[in-house]
Amino acid sequence: MQSSPQKVNRRLFTQKHLIGIEDLSVDEINIILDLADYYADHLDEREFKPDILRGAIILTLFFEDSTRTRTSFEMAAKRLGADVVNMDVRTSSVNKGESLLDTIQTLHAMLRPDAIILRHNEFGAPKFVSTLVDCPVINAGDSWHEHPTQALLDALTLRRRFKKIDGLTIAICGDVAHSRVATSNMILLTRLGAQVHVVAPEALLPQKFPVPGIRTFGNMKDGLAGCDVVMMLRNQTERMQAGLVKSDSDFFREFGLTYEKLAFAKPGALVMHPGPMNREVEIAGDVADDPARSLILEQVRNGVPTRMAVMDILLKK
Ligand code: NCD
Repeated sequence: MQSSPQKVNRRLFTQKHLIGIEDLSVDEINIILDLADYYADHLDEREFKPDILRGAIILTLFFEDSTRTRTSFEMAAKRLGADVVNMDVRTSSVNKGESLLDTIQTLHAMLRPDAIILRHNEFGAPKFVSTLVDCPVINAGDSWHEHPTQALLDALTLRRRFKKIDGLTIAICGDVAHSRVATSNMILLTRLGAQVHVVAPEALLPQKFPVPGIRTFGNMKDGLAGCDVVMMLRNQTERMQAGLVKSDSDFFREFGLTYEKLAFAKPGALVMHPGPMNREVEIAGDVADDPARSLILEQVRNGVPTRMAVMDILLKK
């Protein structure tokens, strides 16, 4: 169901921040997706600039690398008319030992931002920052905890393709244990009525799941059976204890998504990946690049309207 910005009932959205999918009700998820769907419909119109955040200052603060997430937040903010300040942590006083608390207090005093978009390598950093400031904080990924806008853009991509998420069977494969994308998606997809399969080697299976009802599999053949969608994940080596995965080629042989393994899923099953991809490690290049099977570039594209919707809702409340 699509809605225009005027029709969105922002009063039903009770959150001040977007820290995790965990905090969102099904109604709140659908409010974001309905509005994101509207923005996605207009994304290719260059002159479509709602300007509803004119005068607002959005601060992006990324303590970890990013290509898509930071750029799409910036694009989304600009399309809504906001001013964006991208703080480059690599050349900042963080390198002189400044604490997160001092960095936030300094930038908050200087800019008086209307929203802070934060990516951090510490679990819970966005929640901590939300206690220090008087503006909405949007989590752009904290350690292996959550990455809520990624799950929302994935859901938008699925909804636009399949018309509904309820009743889909979706395999999330690979390094589930260290992936914030997997955590946010397991919660969101289950909440919207999908059946989630997790497919991973023993060492990369999470110790516990964030929601009940997830089915786990140790091989791609069984895990992909009956699936409408196969979502692959990058091995998060930056958060992984050395030696957990034997070698890239062993991993690719057992868990890398090739056409051969994709054939275990439903005929015509579609492929997702949040990026960045490691080709020939978790996914074969020809599968990733196949426009008939891969939703990967659509996911990237849907990042902008999803983040427009999130900022619209949190800042216009
Ligand atoms: C993901 C992330 O940073 O969590 N990337 C993204 O935001 N699209 C996944 C990853 O790094 O593997």
